[in-house]
Amino acid sequence: MPEVTIRLGTETYQMEVPMGANLLLEAVSRSIPLPFHCTTGKCGTCQMRVIKGQENLSDYSEQELYRIDGEAISSGYRFACQTYVYGDVTIEAVP
Ligand code: FES
Repeated sequence: MPEVTIRLGTETYQMEVPMGANLLLEAVSRSIPLPFHCTTGKCGTCQMRVIKGQENLSDYSEQELYRIDGEAISSGYRFACQTYVYGDVTIEAVP
């Protein structure tokens, strides 16, 4: 199963998730306090930066492409609620 590492402030969390799992839902179900609000890609509250393993995530959703500017996309920014996991990945929550 894919392993997800989440850096959140001074804390680091690790979780194994089923192939194709939604990153935000898996984190929240384990009480990892990733910030979120809408869960539909509209508010940007769940923005995060992918440190490692971008190739193991689903493609950018239409909502992400509409709301995250090109420079931020190049830097690895994603919305956790729009991201599905297919391999090991390390992410950093954006306050
Ligand atoms: S929770 Fe609103 S964009 Fe992800």
